[in-house]
Amino acid sequence: MTGTPDGPRIVLIGPMGVGKTTVGALLAERLGVAHRDTDADIVAAQGREIADIFVDEGEAYFRELEREAVRAAVAQHTGVLALGGGAILDASTRELLAAHPVVYLSMDVEEAVRRTGLNQARPLLAVNPRKQWRELMDARRSLYTEVARVVVATDGRTPDEVAQAVLDAL
Ligand code: S3P
Repeated sequence: MTGTPDGPRIVLIGPMGVGKTTVGALLAERLGVAHRDTDADIVAAQGREIADIFVDEGEAYFRELEREAVRAAVAQHTGVLALGGGAILDASTRELLAAHPVVYLSMDVEEAVRRTGLNQARPLLAVNPRKQWRELMDARRSLYTEVARVVVATDGRTPDEVAQAVLDAL
């Protein structure tokens, strides 16, 4: 497995609900390294939930916090790092990630609707989840692919199977 000497061993990207946090924790356990999650970093630093940051300050403000959280985590963390689903929207973040072992966990739209469709805690899916998922995936698919060294499809796989596929692929 090839990571940069000082950067994260693995960076997980992909849409919300694809299992980055769950798979990240499994990978960290198997590799004997720490797991970190930029969403959790933001929640801890802000002392409020991401949905509340979206409502109180708007998405643009959240994206600024996210850009800084990714920068800090990539600089400090040497284990497994999971990023929020929209982190790759930022061009400077995509540039930064080019030097790291990035794994894109993918799923198709129907799987996404099944997994997260009723989850109102996710601010980007509040109304008409299927239409919003289609638009999100269409807007982001090429960005995920551009940044990733490896793509691992998660459809119909358990988190254990996905973690194994990531290890096999790297
Ligand atoms: C978002 C994904 C979420 C969270 C925020 C926005 C997105 O992270 O950062 O709700 O734009 O896709 P997860 O992918 O960890 O759910």
